[in-house]
Amino acid sequence: MGTYRTKVDRTEEQGIRELLTKDGYSEVVIEHWLNPRNLGEMKSYDGYSEKITSSCGDSMWFWVKVKDNVIENATYVSDICIGAVSSGSMLTEMIKGKTITEALWISPNDILRALGGLPENLVHCAALAEMALKAAIKDYNVYKASPWKRLYQKKIGWNKLGGMADFLIPKGFEKEC
Ligand code: FES
Repeated sequence: MGTYRTKVDRTEEQGIRELLTKDGYSEVVIEHWLNPRNLGEMKSYDGYSEKITSSCGDSMWFWVKVKDNVIENATYVSDICIGAVSSGSMLTEMIKGKTITEALWISPNDILRALGGLPENLVHCAALAEMALKAAIKDYNVYKASPWKRLYQKKIGWNKLGGMADFLIPKGFEKEC
């Protein structure tokens, strides 16, 4: 996992900001789109959601690291959709430091509020992020109840994505460090 940004230079970035502003995107959405937080596969996780697909066909994967019932870290990968990228980015920031219960209370509307809204046709992107988080927490709870399963997975070097998740990072983004 690393820090990503879009593959655009400063002049292009300014142009993109202006176009997206004209299209009605909030400054927060544009910022998270150009500089998505917590994008990428988490290698050592406590909960993971396999591909969750929205009605539009776009998908998201989500990872959480939990300590003493508190989410210490969260990452995600999604298809290249401004609504999904900004929702995943915002949600991973929102849940850090929250308990599992608090994280489960977060609704798509909370994500939309934090983003300053999304156009009507992209409102479901926030729901996709919320579904992916819930699936990752479900996975965490399953393995918390039977820790031997995760230990066994680690022992045999089993990885659901086979270390391929970084290839799922939208092509328009590159690693900053
Ligand atoms: Fe469907 Fe964004 S997830 S358009």
